[in-house]
Amino acid sequence: MSSKKLFIETYGCQMNLSDSEVVVSILEKEGYTITKQAKDADLIFVNTCSIRENAEKKVRNRIQEFKHLKKKNPNIKVGILGCMAERLKESLLDEEDFIDMVVGPDAYRDLPNLINQTGDGRQMANTVLSLEETYAEIVPVRLDKNGISAFISIMRGCDNYCSYCVVPYTRGHERSRDPESILSEAKDLLAKGYKEITLLGQNVNSYNWKSGDEILNFAKLLKQVANISPELRLRFSTSHPKDISDELIETIANTDNICNSIHLPVQSGSSAVLKRMKRSYDREWYMNRIEKIKTLIPNCGISTDIITGFCGETDIEHEDTITLMREVGYDYAFMFKYSERPDTFAANRMADDVEEDIKAERLNQIISMQQETSLASNKRDIGKVFRVLVDNVSKRSDKQMSGRSDENKVMVFDRKDTQLGDYVMVKCNTCTVGTLLGEIV
Ligand code: SAH
Ligand code: SF4
Ligand code: F3S
Repeated sequence: MSSKKLFIETYGCQMNLSDSEVVVSILEKEGYTITKQAKDADLIFVNTCSIRENAEKKVRNRIQEFKHLKKKNPNIKVGILGCMAERLKESLLDEEDFIDMVVGPDAYRDLPNLINQTGDGRQMANTVLSLEETYAEIVPVRLDKNGISAFISIMRGCDNYCSYCVVPYTRGHERSRDPESILSEAKDLLAKGYKEITLLGQNVNSYNWKSGDEILNFAKLLKQVANISPELRLRFSTSHPKDISDELIETIANTDNICNSIHLPVQSGSSAVLKRMKRSYDREWYMNRIEKIKTLIPNCGISTDIITGFCGETDIEHEDTITLMREVGYDYAFMFKYSERPDTFAANRMADDVEEDIKAERLNQIISMQQETSLASNKRDIGKVFRVLVDNVSKRSDKQMSGRSDENKVMVFDRKDTQLGDYVMVKCNTCTVGTLLGEIV
């Protein structure tokens, strides 16, 4: 039997990447092998994101190329997976009539069946969301490039319903994955030579596993995974401020191989905006958590996500975001203009009333401020020595390698006799906004 070829392209967050690894695992059992060329594929999957309008536009443009491929070779099947599939359901099959299947994030076990039923113009959709599915026992086929860092999804879905956000509708209810399956996946990665694992969830720190009377929370799970081996370095993403408990911060502080790096999306520095966003914390709560982190983990890398121009955001509220960013002094930030998503609470009940040019102006302002803050943070690292996991050969010169420090900063240094996957001590000599440059010591 000649093997069938699958081309899969992934958009959106790390959880989508992790899902693509589950999809590939399911399809390998059906005799598919991966191809990196869409034109050679029998089956093309696009795993999509709906978080902002632009994310969907990107996918809409890209799939037109697959439409052309399919015109040339009508035997190719094209499937849209992930959050856009879940949001638009069958309507996507009408709008883009060359698509063979639309499959939501909880329906990937049904893929072999759906693939069989499509063809000759027969289209299929499965967008049923589940209360239980975590793909716990499916061993993902790793799609990472270096064999050093891997992701493990430890929970799915979200119950927070922030007023601007599409995720609860595209990913369904929050559910945690059986810890035994998480631990065995981590051990398997270690045995395969991986050195770094990132535990993933939309609110990874809301992880909660009940077994009889016992409850395993995120701090305890993290500790258990860290105990597997001191050679394994742990990261996690994304944390919700409401669940960043003292116990969790203490666990990070007390455990060497849990990285001193926390991504803690604030979204806005204004308590009034946070209330309209239904974030369930205010500025004071958030700052209290930051203080606790800084006290217990003095050099902790802290990064965030910010939305600018949310419904009704005034100049003063925008200014609150700027002052908060200054107070925290983030090492890094992902910054976005508010993009109204159909059927969310904000879209139904609030006016998207900040003019586009004001949104853009505010975004530019926080981006340039963050660049200054990132540079200042990097300058403070000059002269310090960091433990770095080498994960890349530098793009500019193969005499140089790069990797990340515990605090999640990218460091570039002369190779010497270093190999990918080594831990090395690197002294920072100089820096740019995005990188620390140094030498192995
Ligand atoms: N679960 C995480 C992040 C989810 S999505 C959390 O709650 O923090 C990643 C980021 O996309 C969010 O943190 C937010 O900053 C941004 N985002 C989500 N919906 C958005 C929207 N409608 N417009 C613009 N940015 C949005
Ligand atoms: Fe979206 Fe809020 Fe859930 Fe994050 S916590 S995924 S922003 S609804
Ligand atoms: Fe996008 Fe879905 Fe992730 S909307 S950010 S791919 S959960």
